[in-house]
Amino acid sequence: MPAPIVTASVELYRDPAVFEHERTAIFARTWQFMGLEADLIRAGDYIAEVIAGYPLLVVRDQAGRLNGFHNVCRHRAGPLVGEAKGRCDHELTCRFHGWRYGFDGQLKAATGFGPAEGFDPAAFGLFPLRVETWRGFVFVNLDLEAAPLIDLLRPLDEKLGAQPRRPARVRDRHPIACNWKVFVENCLDGYHQEGVHPVLAAETGAQQLDVRMVGEIALYEAPSRGGAAESLWAWVWPNLVVSVYRGVLLLEHLRPIGPDKTLMDHVFLHQPEDPGVEAAILHSERITEEDSWVSERVQQNLDAGVYHQGLLSPTQEGAVAWFQDRVAQALAQ
Ligand code: FES
Ligand SMILES: [Fe+2]
Repeated sequence: MPAPIVTASVELYRDPAVFEHERTAIFARTWQFMGLEADLIRAGDYIAEVIAGYPLLVVRDQAGRLNGFHNVCRHRAGPLVGEAKGRCDHELTCRFHGWRYGFDGQLKAATGFGPAEGFDPAAFGLFPLRVETWRGFVFVNLDLEAAPLIDLLRPLDEKLGAQPRRPARVRDRHPIACNWKVFVENCLDGYHQEGVHPVLAAETGAQQLDVRMVGEIALYEAPSRGGAAESLWAWVWPNLVVSVYRGVLLLEHLRPIGPDKTLMDHVFLHQPEDPGVEAAILHSERITEEDSWVSERVQQNLDAGVYHQGLLSPTQEGAVAWFQDRVAQALAQ
């Protein structure tokens, strides 16, 4: 009989120093969802997000390429763009003193800076990011040497197979008062279904839940009533969930804001005329509410100082154990 596994220390879920370490050791080295290619059609179209405290932007250049940069001017750290999405003509112009950069990140003009001996504009280009797309989703990686996005997503990509085009979208965001890992672990455990999601458990049959790891992806398939594409759910290291529920595709990006604050970014993609979209959104909202409720209370209890370490079931919480190991590995590097 397998033995229980000791959980990660409570400090990992509340210490600001750990959070700071995770920013560089995890979020600066992994693929992060940035937005939709549908918002980047013409040259100059851009999207911007703050991910784990890093303000980032992606812009389409005149040659049709997507280029990503930190949204940080090399002069005195002003922002290049101020909105979550929009369009700039010809170049990125800093909102502070007006330095102008090409869509390739090169500094074209240090507007009004005046003569300065030895100042070489070529050495003051924007800090670049890796940008890749997958099925219309734009991802960035702060690590310029990172392995290609598809290496990470392949098991999910194969599972999804051919999917219909879903041009319509609904976006929303939920602030959750817990450490991002508390919420991820909630996602990775099928054990809490009956306690936290009684309606879902009744629908899927809680005893048949099965979460299995394939590479750095956790796949869960409910016993399907209408084919795999109807009910697929996957978590992707470190903070993304992709699911299909009754034909609606949902992306959930868990964006860490601080040691005890997370923002859940939801993107629902659906067919324009799909009458089921309302039901799919309501379903997701209910699950998110239930998971947020329990995760926020878990965080409160971790912060209270009476609980220091617990146990994981070797049969029910294998994916949680995998995740805790993976985090420890990343923080040790
Ligand atoms: S900070 Fe960008 S131009 Fe001054
Ligand atoms: Fe849940």
